Amino acid sequence: MNEPDIALTLDNLSLWYGDKQALSAISLQIPKNRITALIGPSGCGKSTLLRCFNRMNDAIVDCRVEGDILLEQQSIMANNLDLPALRRRIGMVFQRPNPFPKTIYENVVYGLRLQGVRDRRVLDETVERALRAAALWPEVKDKLWQNAMTLSAGQQQRLVIARAIAIAPAVLLLDEPTSALDPITTLVIEELMQTLKEQFTLILVTHNMQQAARVSDYTVFMHQGSVVEAGETDVLFTAPRQRRTEDYISGRYG
Ligand SMILES: Nc1ncnc2c1ncn2[C@@H]1O[C@H](COP(=O)(O)OP(=O)(O)O)[C@@H](O)[C@H]1O
Ligand SMILES: [Mg+2]
Repeated sequence: MNEPDIALTLDNLSLWYGDKQALSAISLQIPKNRITALIGPSGCGKSTLLRCFNRMNDAIVDCRVEGDILLEQQSIMANNLDLPALRRRIGMVFQRPNPFPKTIYENVVYGLRLQGVRDRRVLDETVERALRAAALWPEVKDKLWQNAMTLSAGQQQRLVIARAIAIAPAVLLLDEPTSALDPITTLVIEELMQTLKEQFTLILVTHNMQQAARVSDYTVFMHQGSVVEAGETDVLFTAPRQRRTEDYISGRYG
């Protein structure tokens, strides 16, 4: 089997909040056009690691990072890096759907408007393409001018995904994107992730091991700021190499 292309490479990445170390010497490769799940007990550093990929930790006072992260072979760690440009390439979706209190249409074109796109045809086409890709188009195509806050939570989360992919990022970061949703809506989002990976690299933080096993291709198991084990999801869940991974996936702690 050919090695998959690599979207992101972490090289000896460590991170401190003040004098508390939250990530320890993480080296890792994230495959392109796959879903990589980050799992591990609460507080092990999943969200912290996810935030490194689009430099969200920069906003945290006292947070210090060492090591390197490469996005398609290029370091994203430079002090003078264009952060808005990075965040156009690496989008993020959070646990709570956070649409803007604007129309459905304006939510989707938000990023394009920031870039100064005015051509109505381009905006219209993007809205349809992004909403179709987010599996939301049939439900909202006749009410694009309705306020996004009137949508259900599951629809709002798909709208937020549409907003993120409208500007064609390379990578989509998802931090427990279904933990505020009911089981049926969760399955809708999980199916959506399967179609999105054809176009994007997805990194999914989840505390739900069944979800990681169901949807991801590759799994990274973290414990106290370190990567204990990373590998193909099928292998990691059926034949873990580390005792600690085995204990965690069999529910002995977490
Ligand atoms: N902004 C912050 N300032 C200080 N410590 C933080 C901050 N965010 C997270 N931490 C700490 O870093 C560790 C990892 O947290 P986090 O990445 O949120 O874990 P997870 O997402 O796996 O639950 C925890 O000990 C947490 O308390
Ligand atoms: Mg978290």
